[in-house]
Amino acid sequence: MIRINENYLKLKASYLFSDIAKRVSAYQEANPEKPIIRLGIGDVTEPLPEACQKAFHKAIDDQGTREAFHGYGPEQGYAFLREAIAKNDYQARGADVDASEIFVSDGAKCDSGNIQEIFGSEIKIAVPDPVYPVYVDTNVMAGRTGNNVDGRYEGFVYLDSTPENGYVPSIPDEKVDLIYLCFPNNPTGATATREQLKAWVDYARECEAIILYDAAYVAFIRDESLPQSIYEIEGARDVAIEFRSFSKNAGFTGTRCAYTVVPKALKAQDASGKEHSVHALWNRRHCTKFNGVSYPVQKAAEAVYSEEGATQVKALTDFYLDNAKIVLKSMRELGFDCVGGEDSPYIWINAKRPSWDFFDLLLNEAGVVCTPGAGFGTCGEGHIRISAFNSRAKIEEAMARIKAALA
Ligand code: MLT
Repeated sequence: MIRINENYLKLKASYLFSDIAKRVSAYQEANPEKPIIRLGIGDVTEPLPEACQKAFHKAIDDQGTREAFHGYGPEQGYAFLREAIAKNDYQARGADVDASEIFVSDGAKCDSGNIQEIFGSEIKIAVPDPVYPVYVDTNVMAGRTGNNVDGRYEGFVYLDSTPENGYVPSIPDEKVDLIYLCFPNNPTGATATREQLKAWVDYARECEAIILYDAAYVAFIRDESLPQSIYEIEGARDVAIEFRSFSKNAGFTGTRCAYTVVPKALKAQDASGKEHSVHALWNRRHCTKFNGVSYPVQKAAEAVYSEEGATQVKALTDFYLDNAKIVLKSMRELGFDCVGGEDSPYIWINAKRPSWDFFDLLLNEAGVVCTPGAGFGTCGEGHIRISAFNSRAKIEEAMARIKAALA
């Protein structure tokens, strides 16, 4: 009989969000009359910005005519979108990124999960704890770790994010090759200052490591002193890959569009010590395994950068940030220590008990779904994450229900 990839057996039985979905379905089956409010997975609820809708419709009409029809597009994305990204998300902020360094894709989850394929199997990897599970699981699947012992895989260097370090991990005292960072952070909502990011860039340069910088939540940064891109930090072009998404800024979770920046300066070596372009490797992988994001979706994404689109995206992210304020205020009034929720849609709450216990309490007594912190790693134990992605009415009702349940 054919053999399986046994690295999959090291994984926890299922992906965190599938575990949660199973518990929620069981609750729903048992309590069909009790409506649930979902503040777990960070999925948006509000419609696409009008500018994106219009561009999407127009592009679909184009696809219905012989003259304006588009078949396969460039695997890396259409120039109109890559140029708009380079100009607005980078050059406008003084970050040196060229359109040719941008790879448009169907999700930052796929990109941050797939990128490890182009690196060697023996590399040393640093992952935050708590962590977006995709960074960990994809490396486990690829065989870069040993077994999971007490919630941690052998072979990783874990970067603890704790109240003591303000949830921004300290530089490890050993050399690593690949570092995963995410700011504004999923799940804690913490942000990193320019100085903190600079320390990571300097460290990566010193050990000739590469930073995988997940900036999927950048649209929620309101504090102007915070860096939005790692490329705003001097020297980052030589050591960092950045992931971004249209999911959380423009509500594309069901539409699918994201991008990855791989600077041409980025190098990695083979076993003989010969240097290779990481951009060329990723391009090779991307062209082999991906056929590009659909033309209408890229047109809809391009509209984010129009004047109308930018205003609507700002309003949309402001709306979720106002939800976050309501959650922060309510949970603090109930006596919980919270972080995040200010330049981030996630609120990280000290549950004062095991995470899954608090998850079950909120589900069973309030009909509210959160995400148990333990699902993000051992440092997440004792915490829950509440997502601000929902309608105002549901956020308010969820807070009222939690208050009543805890009274
Ligand atoms: C989350 O809830 O952590 C996110 O929705 C995950 C994702 O964007 O894939």
